[in-house]
Amino acid sequence: MKLTAEQHAQFERDGYLFFPGLFKPEEVKTLTNAVPELYSRREAYNVREKGKDAVRTNFAAHMVSEPFARLARHPRMVEPVQELFDEPLYMHQFKINGKMAFEGDVWQWHQDYGTWLNDDMMPTERAMNVAIFLDDVNEFNGPLMFIPGSHKKGVVDAKHDLTTTSYPLWTVDNDLIRQLVERAGGKNGGIVSPKGPAGSMILFHSCLVHASTSNLSPWNRVSVYLSLCAVSNHIRRHKRPEYIAHRDFTPIACLPDDCLLKDYPVDVPWKDGMPASALQTSSVPFGEMKEAA
Ligand code: SIN
Ligand code: MN
Repeated sequence: MKLTAEQHAQFERDGYLFFPGLFKPEEVKTLTNAVPELYSRREAYNVREKGKDAVRTNFAAHMVSEPFARLARHPRMVEPVQELFDEPLYMHQFKINGKMAFEGDVWQWHQDYGTWLNDDMMPTERAMNVAIFLDDVNEFNGPLMFIPGSHKKGVVDAKHDLTTTSYPLWTVDNDLIRQLVERAGGKNGGIVSPKGPAGSMILFHSCLVHASTSNLSPWNRVSVYLSLCAVSNHIRRHKRPEYIAHRDFTPIACLPDDCLLKDYPVDVPWKDGMPASALQTSSVPFGEMKEAA
């Protein structure tokens, strides 16, 4: 899938691109069918909502489940990002966010690159977020909200919020959000929220400021979020477990376009459990560790 010159300009200006209904219902179904079994596992990679059993986010499904391993190599998702970065990519992070009916909690205003810089020592912003809707997303079930153009500010001030939800996040304070929204047009387009059918995809810049509200509706809003990083921009520190911030920087090799409909062979090394090494962490950059050894 080639991007048009207009899409390149739009990404540069707004910091995101929206592709409604990019994946067909039968393609989405192979993914949705695999979610309940993944969510039922009592593993560290399933983070549950604060005080609840509902899954907030499931990490690393592409290491565990064949349909998600195929999605991680899907050309409709990987190629446009590769085109924007003009470089091979590796998978930095892979999440399936639940945002379950009545139970899904907020995601506070944040930039993803802030976390990747502060926690993982990722050198630059050359990593892309991709959201793929597994449920229809409407104005009621907690759609993602963006402040268009906010990626142009680079990394903005953030504080480490360890209490609001069950998942720690580097969050942006309300005064700065007010300013960024005003700069983006205030009530006229200062906040946007792409909505659409299951199978829609969003590409968004790693510095784009985003958030989502809780889901008080009776409709789940399960979405896959993956982060593709330019290989040369790989992380330099393993402060977070491997199931959150991946350590294999091998370039992604795409499968054929029909890979969600045919059982192409894929490796799922964590199918029967994670190795102990995936839980090990270190606050020392790994280049320095090698030099010291
Ligand atoms: C995220 O920003 O990582 C998740 C946001 C959401 O699921 O709405
Ligand atoms: Mn995010």
